Amino acid sequence: MTEFPLKLTALAQHIVSSHIRSGDVVIDATVGNGEDTLHLARCVGEEGFVLGFDIQETCLEKTIALLTENNLHQRVKLVCSGHEKMLDYVTDSPRVVMFNLGYLPGGSSAIHTKTETTLLALEKSIEVLDDGGLITLCLYSHREGLKEKEAIFKWVEGLPKYFQVLRLSPLKRNNPPELLVIKNTKTTGS
Ligand SMILES: C[S@@+](CC[C@H](N)C(=O)[O-])C[C@H]1O[C@@H](n2cnc3c(N)ncnc32)[C@H](O)[C@@H]1O
Repeated sequence: MTEFPLKLTALAQHIVSSHIRSGDVVIDATVGNGEDTLHLARCVGEEGFVLGFDIQETCLEKTIALLTENNLHQRVKLVCSGHEKMLDYVTDSPRVVMFNLGYLPGGSSAIHTKTETTLLALEKSIEVLDDGGLITLCLYSHREGLKEKEAIFKWVEGLPKYFQVLRLSPLKRNNPPELLVIKNTKTTGS
């Protein structure tokens, strides 16, 4: 990826690429069609590992096929479970946790992330996040998304100061998607 992307999902990928080191452990908290999982699998290299969560089995099947096609399936473990249960599966501190909230593009809009479980998953993420690690969140304003987004902004305000937070919002649009980047700077300082 050479050009700076303005689409927020692509921007989230751009940001994590420059942050992930070869051999890192990372999490895709919302696997969906597997585009972020594939990107993360490329970033972590042969020695790295991606843990992915989705509540829809069909998403995981599709993503395994995508990863196999790209010969990257060995570095990924996909779990059919809510991201709020991530601590049952995490064994190493992740360098990055990516969330792309809402519903699956092209799928049923009735199956979407929910405020309560997203907040739980965020709590778990900050509990295990590596020193210097990043959480990215693509947030939307459709349906329950607005309530979820507002709850996340409120939650972020209560985080300890060493979690630095960047909010990226496109201007000149109504209810645009937004990108939040949260960095754990407790020991790294910046
Ligand atoms: C916007 S899509 C993700 C898109 C994906 N990152 C990609 O690259 O294609 C949101 C996904 O979150 C999933 N989801 C909803 N609730 C969830 C939960 N509690 N835990 C994990 N995934 C969840 C949905 O099934 C849906 O596939």
